[in-house]
Amino acid sequence: MMRSPSTTAATPPAAAPRRIEDLPGPRGWPLVGSLFSVRRQRVHQAMEAWSRLHGPLFRVKLGATQVVVVSDHELIGQLLRERPDTFSRSSQLRRVGQELGGIPGLFSAEGEAWRRQRRMVMASFAPGHVRAYFPALQQVALRLRKRWLHAAQAGTAIDLQADLKRYAVDIIAGLAFGSEVNTLEAGEDVIQRHLDTVLATIFRRVMTPIPYWRWFKLADDRRADRSMAALQQAIAGFIAQARERLHADPSRREQPRNLLEAMLAAAEDGDAGLSDRDVAGNVSTMLFAGEDTTSNTLAWLIWLLHHHPQALQRAREEVQRVVPDLAGASFEQIDSLDYVEACASEAMRLKPVAPFLGLEALHDTTVADVQLPRGTLLWLVLRHDSLDERWFGAAERFEPERWLAADGAAAAAPAPNKRVAMPFGGGPRVCPGRYLALLEIKLAMATLLGSFDLDSLATADGQAMQEHMTFTMNPSELQLRLRLRTQPSFPR
Ligand code: HEM
Repeated sequence: MMRSPSTTAATPPAAAPRRIEDLPGPRGWPLVGSLFSVRRQRVHQAMEAWSRLHGPLFRVKLGATQVVVVSDHELIGQLLRERPDTFSRSSQLRRVGQELGGIPGLFSAEGEAWRRQRRMVMASFAPGHVRAYFPALQQVALRLRKRWLHAAQAGTAIDLQADLKRYAVDIIAGLAFGSEVNTLEAGEDVIQRHLDTVLATIFRRVMTPIPYWRWFKLADDRRADRSMAALQQAIAGFIAQARERLHADPSRREQPRNLLEAMLAAAEDGDAGLSDRDVAGNVSTMLFAGEDTTSNTLAWLIWLLHHHPQALQRAREEVQRVVPDLAGASFEQIDSLDYVEACASEAMRLKPVAPFLGLEALHDTTVADVQLPRGTLLWLVLRHDSLDERWFGAAERFEPERWLAADGAAAAAPAPNKRVAMPFGGGPRVCPGRYLALLEIKLAMATLLGSFDLDSLATADGQAMQEHMTFTMNPSELQLRLRLRTQPSFPR
């Protein structure tokens, strides 16, 4: 159904306000609504299909829960900006996280607590800080290259997502906690598996109408409890290491080297209103928020490039021209991989790892012409307009060039594109890790395209590629085989 852009957030001035019950939406069944027409792992696709059918603002009943669905990007942008005062994240998500023993951090904090934590996190992820940390990021990339070199030489298939998760965790732990976890060279990828288990359980529980786990636990729930306990132990380890560093070198209290040191110094100070519990909550938040998102975005990007040989060739040429030597590359070289960045933006438009966001009204309010009582849940369909021909010509096609200015610079990418596709969310709670994530993506692509050819890339189960919603939108498991292109001048 084609709609004109004027049927978006704008409302006829004289029209009487509507109530949620007046909104269109799928009819559903008595009591359960549309719950059983939605498969959990495909819920994003169901919401997108209904958006095409029912328009930019409609309602869906999922079990006892009524949800107002919004798919117009202008209206979504407006709602995201009205945080934290008018809308919060969903309280159901917070409740489920806490029931699992999770400690709240920036992602789930609200109000004043959120404001305090946000300032600190933003400072630690500011471009200047990420830039200063670049040599350590580069070491992680070199370890990834070594790992892939061994696989290429042995002719073994790489479990792509698993390796990308190791890469993402090593970077976060180093940058945000000052810890060298080096999961890329360790035999076990323990943290990643625990993170996966916990995230999948949170999503499953949020989407389950009856909280059965309060009365009895299934095998999956017991596994999630064990993973949460193991993660908390790892987090306590990061914190203990950072405390030791602060103790050994008190100058770090004045000039903390990373987010964890900054948080510990502030917590000890007592003035910043940050408790030890907030510190632990944010260590786990950074692991949860920075691992799956970045690794899945990279996996989607590699998959899309594999299916678009011309774009792959152009990206490879850029890497070879701009970054001839990964080990000696400067921050500026990696940062200026504009075509690779355009490929990432295009991958995030087509395959955003967060294809929707949930909000909850903190008080009675009005959205467009619809009155929402306090507690109303909103489901923001971030991908709807990204796939709409009104905003992106040939919207289904992978065309990285649409993100480049006429002179080929990604930094000057057409502004309207950036307003429509919101892979990092928007407003005051926009992802604070976005700058780091883009750098990580460019560095990983320089690692891959600088030394290897993609011999084959296929789903592990041999089936067609699928989008699986767990907490983020994962591609099917991918197996990658690499061929070493040039004689390596790097240590093995
Ligand atoms: C490609 C990679 C990434 C994507 C696509 C992504 C996407 C998102 C999205 C959609 C949100 C919600 C924003 C909103 O509510 O408006 C978010 C929030 C957040 N992200 Fe990311 N993210 C990525 C990487 C990272 C990294 C590397 C970190 C840091 C380690 C990070 C830390 C966070 C945090 C802490 C929040 C919560 C912010 C708040 O509530 O104030 N993210 N991210």
